[in-house]
Amino acid sequence: MSKTVTSSATTRYFYPWPISLVSTVDEDGKPNIITIAASSICSSSPPSVGVAIGTAQYSLTLIERTGDFGVNLPRAGQVSEVDYCGSHSGRTVDKFQAVEWTPQPSTIITSPLIEECPVSMECKVVQKVPLGSHTWVIGEIVAVHIEEELLGPGGTLDIPAAEPLLAFWGEYYGLGEKIADWHHSRTQT
Ligand SMILES: Cc1cc2nc3c(=O)[nH]c(=O)nc-3n(C[C@H](O)[C@H](O)[C@H](O)COP(=O)(O)O)c2cc1C
Repeated sequence: MSKTVTSSATTRYFYPWPISLVSTVDEDGKPNIITIAASSICSSSPPSVGVAIGTAQYSLTLIERTGDFGVNLPRAGQVSEVDYCGSHSGRTVDKFQAVEWTPQPSTIITSPLIEECPVSMECKVVQKVPLGSHTWVIGEIVAVHIEEELLGPGGTLDIPAAEPLLAFWGEYYGLGEKIADWHHSRTQT
């Protein structure tokens, strides 16, 4: 099998990521949403998530002011609203109004959540790592809100029902079929 070796270092060959919507609020109480493709779970205990936010993004200024943010996971069917929030700046528009979504008050943090998203997390900033074009903002997840219909036995999430939305460079994808369970190889002989 022959492979091309690219001379330029790039992140563009990673496979698609789940899309997150990071919600924030300004000093006048106006809420904002930024569409984020670059995010990751960072730690299970304490539960932590990282989001890569461009240094020029309005949302980074808002997160730095409050020290917190919401992470909301949209459905594939919400791709138009997601795209709008990733194509306009909260500096000039009210994105909640524009996409007709509802800011839902958080229970612990200052930033609101997005009521229309099936899963939302309240996060407190614990670290910021400036890396160049983006700052890696790490938040501890202090509360999680989940649509009850999506919860299965033992608190498991019904992934097909949640309809995750994934992003690749310039393209949106849905999730494919489940392939296997983790650690299924432990029971193979
Ligand atoms: C699918 C998609 C994924 C994006 N991912 C990121 C990302 O991971 N980090 C980032 O800083 N901007 C990302 N953006 C761009 C921001 O969402 C966009 O610049 C937004 O308008 C910034 O909003 P704000 O100025 O209100 O903060 C993405 C945009 C789209 C459409």
